Amino acid sequence: MSKINISIADFILMKLIMLGILVFCVNNLFAAEGGPCKDYGDCDKFKYSLNDMESLQRGASTFLNYCYGCHSLQYSRWGRVAKDLQIPEDIFFENLVFDKSIKPGDLMTGSMPKEESAKWFGVAPPDLTLVSRVRGDDWIYSYLRTYYEDASKQYGVNNLVYPGTAMPNVLMALQGNQKLVCKEVPMLAKNGGEKRDDFGNTITKEKCGILEVEESSGELSKDEFDKLIYDLTNFLVYVGEPAKAERERIGWYVIFYFLIFTALSSLLYREYQKDYH
Ligand code: HEC
Repeated sequence: MSKINISIADFILMKLIMLGILVFCVNNLFAAEGGPCKDYGDCDKFKYSLNDMESLQRGASTFLNYCYGCHSLQYSRWGRVAKDLQIPEDIFFENLVFDKSIKPGDLMTGSMPKEESAKWFGVAPPDLTLVSRVRGDDWIYSYLRTYYEDASKQYGVNNLVYPGTAMPNVLMALQGNQKLVCKEVPMLAKNGGEKRDDFGNTITKEKCGILEVEESSGELSKDEFDKLIYDLTNFLVYVGEPAKAERERIGWYVIFYFLIFTALSSLLYREYQKDYH
């Protein structure tokens, strides 16, 4: 019988490569494709945290108060959201569900008639259950923070990420009045430092299209508003795949299993090798 000539190190390496390919494929198959953020350039990066219950609870509350009037979450049920977010059902229904005829088992089908709203906005506000999977979480996080004043538009606002969007800036009271401004910014030299003239003064040039919120025109500071949108986006990621946190938790066990299995099978391999000598 010919001798199989693979060392244990080769064997483990092969396993690791196979594991690598598997992880890569799974990641690419299931990762939400974020669209590019148009006039904004690259989208701001968003890192969800689905185990942060407080963030998800705040996100749900913002959604139900500011978004649910137009957007449904028609594949989610009220009771499931309350349970997943660990909000006691009585508190949830008393504080966040405004239509008292709704039962925990009902789908979150929204309160706006589709045909009417298409007339009002030109486009019916889409259902948002799966929006984080279609658009990507980076896209949503950027979109909700890049409204700016534009008198030429129907609602007096436009958006850098979704130019010409039919959605009004519903969070303006919180964020304040954001505008595109021009600013003097330092010119950068080739080595990455600021350019200076012969007297040591920084040389600047005018750059336009910078977002800036008019001072104290909103209820929240920039950080507070970013956090509000973080929680809201986090909630939309949860709604897009309620089992995501659970799936990721189990994923670790699977990898753990692979490692144990690799160790056991390499021991077995060693045992078999003994027969050849
Ligand atoms: C007054 C009604 C209204 C409210 C309130 C509203 N939206 Fe919208 N929204 C719209 C309309 C209309 C569109 C469609 C825009 C278009 O396609 O031009 C839209 C589109 C969107 C989209 C893009 C969906 C896609 O894939 O094209 C997202 C994301 C979104 N809204 C999130 C929100 C969030 C989050 C809130 C709460 C803070 C909210 N909306 C509140 C009317 C509304």
